[in-house]
Amino acid sequence: MLLRDMTEADLDAVLRIEREVHAHPWTLGNFSDALRSGYQCKVAELEGEMRGYAVMMLAVDEAELLDIAIDATQQRQGMGRKLLESLLSLARHGNMRRMVLEVRASNQAAIALYRASGFEQIGLRRDYYPAVNGREDALLMGKVL
Ligand SMILES: CC(C)(COP(=O)(O)OP(=O)(O)OC[C@H]1O[C@@H](n2cnc3c(N)ncnc32)[C@H](O)[C@@H]1OP(=O)(O)O)[C@@H](O)C(=O)NCCC(=O)NCCS
Repeated sequence: MLLRDMTEADLDAVLRIEREVHAHPWTLGNFSDALRSGYQCKVAELEGEMRGYAVMMLAVDEAELLDIAIDATQQRQGMGRKLLESLLSLARHGNMRRMVLEVRASNQAAIALYRASGFEQIGLRRDYYPAVNGREDALLMGKVL
């Protein structure tokens, strides 16, 4: 799996995946803002094709994972774990002290991936996300690097 910087030219393909895997997807504007803000926006490729992507913000000594996704047809093949490992290594090289993220309480796949990669729950934000029926809690998770 190859990791490279995301560019504006990737955003059609990124949005295709994003809309497929998230009930409340990021918009084109969200990704453009992330690119313009200098966040770490990475694309994961295999055999020349985009299989996933991630967006991470580095702030002083803390990395925040803002989005990570693997194409719906390519999940459960180890790519999410590899992509996350690459981001952890990038954050370590940037001298970040820990990585944090927020995840919907119902997102069992992502929570399992984060736990398997050494993240622990460090907080809970009640009714943080809009959901199909009302609101949903966010787990705040973190990992010391
Ligand atoms: C979360 C996500 C990125 C995982 O990517 P993936 O490539 O499918 O994950 P991997 O194959 O690397 O799985 C790594 C581990 O995570 C856990 N895991 C992944 N998917 C899982 C699922 N559907 N159910 C339970 N555990 C799961 C397992 O522990 C797995 O290890 P194993 O396969 O050896 O059991 C992917 O499911 C996805 O894109 N989801 C939609 C977007 C999303 O929710 N992003 C997170 C927002 S916070």
